[in-house]
Amino acid sequence: MSPASGPGPRWLLFSFGLGLVSGSKCPKNCQCQAQEVVCTGSQLTEFPLDMPLSTRRLYLNNNNITFVPALTLGLLSDLVYLDFRNNQIREVMDYTFIGVFRLIYLDLSTNNLTSISPFSFSPLSNLVQLNISNNPHLLSLNKYTFANTSSLRHLDLRNTGLQTLDPSAFQNLLTLQTLYLSGNPWKCNCSFLDFTIYLIVSHLSHPDAPNATCMEPAELAGWPVEQVGNPLRYMCVTHLDSQDYVFLLLIGFCIFSAGTVAAWLTGMCAVIYQSARRRSSEAEDEDEQGQRVEVGRRIFHIHRWSLRQKKQQGTRQAPFLTRSRASHSLSGAYI
Ligand SMILES: *[C@@H]1O[C@H](CO)[C@@H](O)[C@H](O)[C@H]1NC(C)=O
Ligand SMILES: *[C@@H]1O[C@H](CO)[C@@H](O)[C@H](O)[C@H]1NC(C)=O
Ligand SMILES: *[C@@H]1O[C@H](CO)[C@@H](O)[C@H](O)[C@H]1NC(C)=O
Ligand SMILES: *[C@@H]1O[C@H](CO)[C@@H](O)[C@H](O)[C@H]1NC(C)=O
Ligand SMILES: *[C@@H]1O[C@H](CO)[C@@H](O)[C@H](O)[C@H]1NC(C)=O
Ligand SMILES: *[C@@H]1O[C@H](CO)[C@@H](O)[C@H](O)[C@H]1NC(C)=O
Repeated sequence: MSPASGPGPRWLLFSFGLGLVSGSKCPKNCQCQAQEVVCTGSQLTEFPLDMPLSTRRLYLNNNNITFVPALTLGLLSDLVYLDFRNNQIREVMDYTFIGVFRLIYLDLSTNNLTSISPFSFSPLSNLVQLNISNNPHLLSLNKYTFANTSSLRHLDLRNTGLQTLDPSAFQNLLTLQTLYLSGNPWKCNCSFLDFTIYLIVSHLSHPDAPNATCMEPAELAGWPVEQVGNPLRYMCVTHLDSQDYVFLLLIGFCIFSAGTVAAWLTGMCAVIYQSARRRSSEAEDEDEQGQRVEVGRRIFHIHRWSLRQKKQQGTRQAPFLTRSRASHSLSGAYI
């Protein structure tokens, strides 16, 4: 071990650690005092190094910072106030704010955000105010973006490229009080209905409500999104297009023809049943008549036979005998 190479890096490391721990350092072109660091308009293009670890309020507004590094930011675990307004940040990655979970105020307005990852804000369960306004290339927000920011009270979404919002993104924001929505190209189609209903029932304050209007479709352009719930419900739930009328007409025709066929079938069945019954009862009648004729013929025969007997015997007892025999055969014919 040479004496020259040993202490050098160790001393560097020590002084770096001392600088971090003591908080005596202050980034170039910034003012640091009483846990507050102000780097407003310092021509920064990157997140500054040498930040005092005890910083609670950090002003980085009006610079040209393009990226928020999670690791460097994560050293500032006491940070409660972070102003990134008016920079050129393009995206916010998942867990960017994982180390600054005490954050109460976050301003990302007037940047160039194109996307916010769904779990970007998930460590920020203490966040009260969030400003992402003036990001015209921000076209959508994931429905999980605000899933864990349950302390949020003021949310500014003005002047972005947002066309629609999923109301389920707001279901965990039970303390939300103020919501700014103006200057967005809201597309008030049927998918937007649920969000407009949320706006009606949630009793939030919308300070810019008259300027938060639909851009599409043409027939709803200029309607305040806060009031578009009812016409939208009419359009999406009860209003019918000519196509729907054709469909309903077809359905009606189908039901009508099905009914007609059913009635016709029932009628046919009734007629067939009736005629079958009539035929069978006629056959019975014929049977009965046939039997009666047969019986009558037998009686006639018996009568002739007894007459012949009477003639042959000429006794008094015989007629009674023959009559009983005749009645016997008569009852036999009926059995
Ligand atoms: C920062 O951006 C502005 C306009 O976007 C530009 O005029 C200025 O030169 C940039 N500054 C630096 C230090 O890059
Ligand atoms: C902002 O982002 C858009 C889309 O990514 C890009 O076209 C544009 O150049 C960016 N603007 C600035 C000033 O960086
Ligand atoms: C949501 O907030 C809770 C409470 O602070 C925290 O424990 C949890 O890790 C957070 N969830 C995510 C996905 O960050
Ligand atoms: C959000 O930022 C914009 C632009 O920086 C500003 O005009 C607006 O007042 C801020 N919103 C709130 C609620 O402070
Ligand atoms: C409504 O518009 C949004 C945004 O363009 C789109 O994602 C959605 O599919 C549309 N919904 C319907 C029912 O057209
Ligand atoms: C609406 O927009 C107009 C013009 O952009 C502005 O003068 C007015 O103050 C805005 N109203 C609200 C309530 O934001």
